[in-house]
Amino acid sequence: MKQFAVIGNPIAQSLSPDLHQEVYRQLRLDAFFEKIQVKTNELHPFINSNELDGFNVTIPHKQSVIPALDELDESAKIIGAVNCVHKGKGYNTDWLGFLKTLEINKIELNGKDCTILGAGGAAKAIAYALITSNVKSISIVNRSQENAHQLSQWIQDNSDISVTTTTPEHLSAVADFIINCTPLGMWPNTKSIPMDMELIHKNHILVDTIYNPIETEWLKSGNAKGAKTMGGLDMFIAQGLASADIWFGENLSKSLKIEKIRQVLISRI
Ligand SMILES: NC(=O)c1ccc[n+]([C@@H]2O[C@H](COP(=O)([O-])OP(=O)(O)OC[C@H]3O[C@@H](n4cnc5c(N)ncnc54)[C@H](OP(=O)(O)O)[C@@H]3O)[C@@H](O)[C@H]2O)c1
Repeated sequence: MKQFAVIGNPIAQSLSPDLHQEVYRQLRLDAFFEKIQVKTNELHPFINSNELDGFNVTIPHKQSVIPALDELDESAKIIGAVNCVHKGKGYNTDWLGFLKTLEINKIELNGKDCTILGAGGAAKAIAYALITSNVKSISIVNRSQENAHQLSQWIQDNSDISVTTTTPEHLSAVADFIINCTPLGMWPNTKSIPMDMELIHKNHILVDTIYNPIETEWLKSGNAKGAKTMGGLDMFIAQGLASADIWFGENLSKSLKIEKIRQVLISRI
């Protein structure tokens, strides 16, 4: 039986086992997926001694795992974060999950003006997806200007896209396409909203990376104004399936009932 896992700390809240076990059930794969709590001081010994066939990496190890790996996939190298490991090689499938969500919702990014709320790890993976999609401009809205400037510099080092930065307090306008990459609104603080909703109107497209709750307060409020909204669950599912494709060496997604996976995960949230 093949053995897979997600490692992180804390890890109790992870839905990755539910996602992957449902994939194995649907495809009758002889495999098992568990969650393993790995503390920071245990990370390198774990990487060197585990006998897993593959594993996902989540907070707080996405960057710190890199020195322990033998090699990195091109996107993981550029983003500087790994969420999937196979045979000592690190991959980043978060940005792929985001692009897949847009593809499912038939949203074209080429030439678009975009706003990213947040400047952490998820924001960087999303920024990479925006770079590969040839967007026109990116505005970064973040509490810490230092972190916003770092992300801005990274985007300019890796593309010709025009970038601006501001703080949530100074935000006076947003682009048509907005992605929330902060944890504001995530369970248990579900009433938090990452930006001033006065700036949102019906032509906006809002994408939240949060999937617990399925529909955040930000999305609910955007919906009420007639904006198009998408939650983080499809991105989460797509990053997981992209990881499974790497581990099994084939495109599993085409044979899966994605709606059934969604229902299983929704029932766990
Ligand atoms: N759906 C998916 O598959 C998926 C995948 C990856 C991540 N995510 C989601 O993405 C979100 C961010 O994760 P991450 O890995 O990027 O975290 P991170 O690296 O810790 O970055 C967090 C970002 O949010 C900002 N932030 C945090 N608390 C804040 C607060 N109270 N007020 C204002 N800003 C705040 C931080 O601002 P500062 O720079 O000022 O600290 C930073 O920009 C999480 O909700 C996570 O669940 C979803």
